[in-house]
Amino acid sequence: KYEKWWLTFGISSLVLFLTIVGFSAFHYGSHPPSGKIYIDPERVDEIAPFNKPGVHKVEGEEWDYEVVLVASAFYYNPPEIEVPIGSTIKFIATTKDVVHGFQVAGTNINMILEPGYVSEYVTTVDKPGEFLILCNEYCGVGHTTMTSMLKVV
Ligand code: CUA
Repeated sequence: KYEKWWLTFGISSLVLFLTIVGFSAFHYGSHPPSGKIYIDPERVDEIAPFNKPGVHKVEGEEWDYEVVLVASAFYYNPPEIEVPIGSTIKFIATTKDVVHGFQVAGTNINMILEPGYVSEYVTTVDKPGEFLILCNEYCGVGHTTMTSMLKVV
């Protein structure tokens, strides 16, 4: 008798779980999180601005530089970032494969990079030095070696 009850319970839980997963997938697919820009992760290299990763001086914006970043297992492009002290930087980042993090140790810069989406963050760099950039989202065997450097000079 108990076995039957457990079986019913088990099946009900499974059905409930699948319904939730199915609904989430549908919901996610039809309504991307608001405020996020969608980008095809397989075509990142062809799509502006990600076809030109690096530090770019800009005019007529509220920020002085745009740092265009592409993360992939297990490195960042560009491999190193150098910006002048006191400048306002807009980081524009995405990933070509799995979820990666972009955290700059000792600063308030901390972004999550999700495949299919563009992450942006604007900040003013007012401390000189070399800051370690690290991936804080587990992304595979090379996760711990996924680092880079932000140089504020
Ligand atoms: Cu990339 Cu962890």
